[in-house]
Order: sequence, then structure tokens, then C-alpha cells
Amino acid sequence: MNKKIVITGATKGIGRAIAEKFGSEGWDLAVCARSQRDLDEMNSSLVLRSSRLVTFVCDVSKPKEVKAFAEKILNEFGAVEIIVNNAGVFIPGQVINEKEGTLEKLMETNLYSAYYLSRMLLPKMLEKRSGHIFNLCSVASIQAYPNGGSYSISKFALLGLSKALREELKEYHIKVTALIAGATYTDSWSQSNLPESRFMKAEDIAQAVWDVYHLSENTVVEEILLRPMQGDI
Ligand SMILES: NC(=O)c1ccc[n+]([C@@H]2O[C@H](COP(=O)([O-])OP(=O)(O)OC[C@H]3O[C@@H](n4cnc5c(N)ncnc54)[C@H](OP(=O)(O)O)[C@@H]3O)[C@@H](O)[C@H]2O)c1
Repeated sequence: MNKKIVITGATKGIGRAIAEKFGSEGWDLAVCARSQRDLDEMNSSLVLRSSRLVTFVCDVSKPKEVKAFAEKILNEFGAVEIIVNNAGVFIPGQVINEKEGTLEKLMETNLYSAYYLSRMLLPKMLEKRSGHIFNLCSVASIQAYPNGGSYSISKFALLGLSKALREELKEYHIKVTALIAGATYTDSWSQSNLPESRFMKAEDIAQAVWDVYHLSENTVVEEILLRPMQGDI
């Protein structure tokens, strides 16, 4: 039976690259995004090796929708082997002058999404005593910067969630990895005037997930810090 991976926000960017990697290696995938059109496009174009793709429209900032996505996954797959809490949003700004509601939006999308999805899917993983959770953190999870504002707060919190889960889940042999990523070329950066070569490739993050997952059961990579070759942007 194929192994199962869940990836939030997988129609574009880093999530899409992870879906392409695992789909091409014969894993069954459950993915979500807000756009039905993009999910349909993914359904028709993703190259799968004898595996299944389950798509679901879900705004991960809404706990009710996250719960509906989790129920769909549990019905279709039962226990999953990997959860990638990837969906996230970046709103630049400063705590002192960003629009009211920015903190709430960023916390709901970047933190609560991972909290609720993990809580929903973990009971089956605990039963199996197997699995791996990857959280898409950021250099902004370890370093505040002038225009980071609430984004940085939400990504620090996601790293906090990763650490809490790591402590709770070690006795169940479930691994937790915080992917602390620097600037990676995706849609989020397409309007910048910088050359693509200045950024990391989303495919490299997908490869890192693949490699980290495939270490022996004796070892967990708790955090992995990936930066563009020439440093932060
Ligand atoms: N790119 C970077 O430089 C970078 C660096 C460090 C960390 N990260 C983190 O990596 C993750 C992915 O970033 P990315 O650059 O690959 O993003 P992206 O290219 O903008 O793609 C985001 C994906 O997530 C989905 N998504 C966004 N908001 C969603 C929501 N509320 N509910 C469900 N799906 C949602 C999008 O589809 P819909 O729009 O259809 O929903 C899309 O599939 C984020 O958590 C980001 O903070 C990115």
C-alpha cells in the first residue's frame, strides 16, 4: 500500500514542489488550497506514479474548514505518514503601523492551521506510533527584521508549535521537523526585481523533506536552516 502525505497549500510554490516530489515517488497525496481552479489544474497536470491525489478546497485560516479537510483525509486514507503544514501568507509591515487585524490573519493562517490539522490527524498516527510532521517555518522564525511585523510573530509561534509537538511526540516515535527556510523563488517573489538565481529553489526544499524523512528511525532532524547561497534577501 502506498504511503500517504498531506500538504496544505500545495497548488503553488514550495507545497507544489513537495507534492511533485512525493507524487513522482509513488506516494498518495491529500492537498488543499482555496482555489478550486488551481486544484483542478493540479489534478490534470501532476505526474503521479501509481498513486492517488485527493484535492480539497479549504481556507486553512478557518478551523471549521481545516476540520472538514481532516475528516476527508481520515475517510480517504485513515492514518497518514507525513503532514506538511505549508500553507502560509506573508504580509509585510511593522507592529507599530500595520493594519489592524494583520496579526489575527497571520496567526490564523500560519499557526492555527497547523495546530488544528495536526490535532485532527495525530490520533491515528499515535495509534500507529509512526509519522512525521514538517512545519514550514522561516528565517523570520528565528530573526526579527524591520518589515517583518506580525509575519515574524506568527512564524516564531509556528517554531514554538514545532518544539512543543517534538517534546510531546518523541515517546510515540513520531518525528517533528521545523523547516526554517530563507527566500525561495515562488509566486510570492515574482514581482520582485531580483533574479531568480538569487533565491533558493522550491525543489531544494522538497528534496530536503525527502532526505530528512528517509533517515533511520534512530534520528530526527528537529530543525533545518536553509538559506539562499548569497544569504538573506
Ligand atoms: N517563498 C519564500 O521565500 C518562503 C520563505 C520561508 C518560508 N516560506 C513559507 O513557505 C510556505 C509556502 O510559501 P510559498 O512561497 O510556496 O507560497 P505561495 O507560492 O504563495 O503558495 C501558497 C500556496 O498556499 C495556498 N494558500 C495560501 N493561503 C491559503 C489558505 N488560507 N488556505 C489554504 N491554502 C492557502 C495557495 O493556494 P490558494 O491561494 O489557492 O489558497 C498556494 O497553493 C508559507 O508558509 C511561507 O510562509 C516561504
